[in-house]
Amino acid sequence: MEAAAPHNPAEQRPPAHCVELTVTSPEQMRELGRRLAKLLRAGDLVLLSGELGAGKTTLTRGLGEGMGVRGAVTSPTFVIARVHPSLDDGPPLVHVDAYRLSGGLDEMEDLDLDVSLPESVIVVEWGEGKVEELTEDRLHLVIHRAVGDTTDEVRHVTVTGLGERWAGTDLSVLSA
Ligand SMILES: Nc1ncnc2c1ncn2[C@@H]1O[C@H](COP(=O)(O)OP(=O)(O)OP(=O)(O)O)[C@@H](O)[C@H]1O
Ligand SMILES: [Mg+2]
Repeated sequence: MEAAAPHNPAEQRPPAHCVELTVTSPEQMRELGRRLAKLLRAGDLVLLSGELGAGKTTLTRGLGEGMGVRGAVTSPTFVIARVHPSLDDGPPLVHVDAYRLSGGLDEMEDLDLDVSLPESVIVVEWGEGKVEELTEDRLHLVIHRAVGDTTDEVRHVTVTGLGERWAGTDLSVLSA
């Protein structure tokens, strides 16, 4: 049962700008990506953090499905950024894996992310300290493996909305 404070009923609660979710399988992680797609629009930047194998690409795959873009989202071996155009009239998904990039935006300049951002949704794995200069508005997802999980399928995901863009968005819809 949910405890509702008498002076703060659910309908008056401010929108959640930070939510914590528990995901128990790769399929659920994809589903989270599909749900996330409904919140995103052109101009949005999403940062994905978490160790190797946390599930960043798995989530992005679901996001690509939810956005209805062309091409399966994969872990790029040589390609740093891949553009997945929309199959209808939605924005393209630009999937960046910055793992091999050590520097700041300088090194990423060739990708022209600043040029593509206004009309795209950009998702960056391993992007901390590299892409924040693009915009103050961003959604930051941090994925952790659950400690002591013997199946190695449980993940804790923290979603934080930063900046004006996310001030009015209720992220609790992601846990529905
Ligand atoms: N709950 C879960 N969510 C996501 N992936 C899971 C989960 N449980 C197990 N897995 C497995 O963990 C792996 C996650 O791989 P994925 O490529 O998505 O990680 P990543 O964070 O992108 O790693 P990298 O940093 O190498 O790019 C997959 O093999 C997936 O099947
Ligand atoms: Mg990956």
